[in-house]
Amino acid sequence: MSTEKMHIDPYERNWMIFSAVLLVLFATAVSVAAFGMGIQLPAPEQRVDPKTVATDPNSPWSNPGLREIKPGKYDAYILSHAIPNWEYLPKEISVPVGSSVSFYVTSSDVQHGFKIQDTNANFQVIPGQVSKLTIKFDKAGTYNYICTEYCGSGHGIMYGAIIVTP
Ligand code: CUA
Repeated sequence: MSTEKMHIDPYERNWMIFSAVLLVLFATAVSVAAFGMGIQLPAPEQRVDPKTVATDPNSPWSNPGLREIKPGKYDAYILSHAIPNWEYLPKEISVPVGSSVSFYVTSSDVQHGFKIQDTNANFQVIPGQVSKLTIKFDKAGTYNYICTEYCGSGHGIMYGAIIVTP
């Protein structure tokens, strides 16, 4: 039996140590972000039945649009659909400047995207799930929302607008 130590070139050994230290650093960074800072993957806000979400009278998406919760705070229920004509319902909403709007977006058919121009809102809209994001509109103007996931031949015409009035 040999008691001789395995020979590792110092250059190679240093790189092995460096790689191991990096792995520990990455694992620490991910753990601190996930458990210390609470940064998690977004979970579905709510689950719905895509077959009835647009028609069930108890579903807010059977009457999509804006609800004022309290002054300056709104909930916007937005339905995305490819059938029959690739659109968001409603196509347009209007809020005064300074408003905070929580968007609840779902689809009654295929997967869509929802991106609001000039904001950091950009998410997937998955049938059966509700995507939620709150945006505060501090500047007046027109903010278009557009579909960012290919959803069929009418994908390119799928958009709507948020009018932020002074
Ligand atoms: Cu809806 Cu692309």
